[in-house]
Amino acid sequence: MKKNIAVLISGSGTNLQSIIDKTESGYLPITIRCVISDRMDAYGLIRARNHNIPAFFIDPGKFQKREEYEAEILNILTEHEVELVVLAGYMLLLTPHFINRYQNRIINIHPALLPSFPGTDGYGDAWRYGVKVSGCTVHFVDSGCDTGPIILQGVNPIRKDDTFESFKERGLSIEHEVLPEAIKLYCEGRLRIEGRKVRILEK
Ligand code: GRF
Repeated sequence: MKKNIAVLISGSGTNLQSIIDKTESGYLPITIRCVISDRMDAYGLIRARNHNIPAFFIDPGKFQKREEYEAEILNILTEHEVELVVLAGYMLLLTPHFINRYQNRIINIHPALLPSFPGTDGYGDAWRYGVKVSGCTVHFVDSGCDTGPIILQGVNPIRKDDTFESFKERGLSIEHEVLPEAIKLYCEGRLRIEGRKVRILEK
């Protein structure tokens, strides 16, 4: 059975594109029911529409309270019978209300090896710090900022001749493999959350 997923984005949507491509190739047993952005100019909205995926821009600025904004998102998720929410470059923090509604059914990709460099600029923070190894982390979302149980991590060793751009470009292409792999494991029912740890069951 295919799982219904929603992808929340804020920007270019290259991670969304990799999910779309891996769905169309048959690697991912999912239907992308909708894409939602908090930014009108997010290029990911165009990527979604190019593949006939319903794409919504919900303006957080239109609402007095964050809960009201999220209520609008939750309505769309309910209408589209969404079972898993994937945050792919979605830059806003979700409220506990939203997280409780989709408890253990929201996953996020973060562009650093958590718990190092949480927050909005994982690549920049890791690069400026001078780490020798960085990468990305896919995790379940809890009410903290990038603190939920870790599903998978991808490793990106810094090369001697790297510039920030080459480091980031390679990092993004690692994200494009790791996020779909985590979605696949979720859809196959192979993830067990045990406290802070996520156990991956054999096939
Ligand atoms: C990715 O690095 C993601 O991990 C981060 O924002 C970037 C979004 O990229 N939080 P894209 O919109 O998927 O191209």
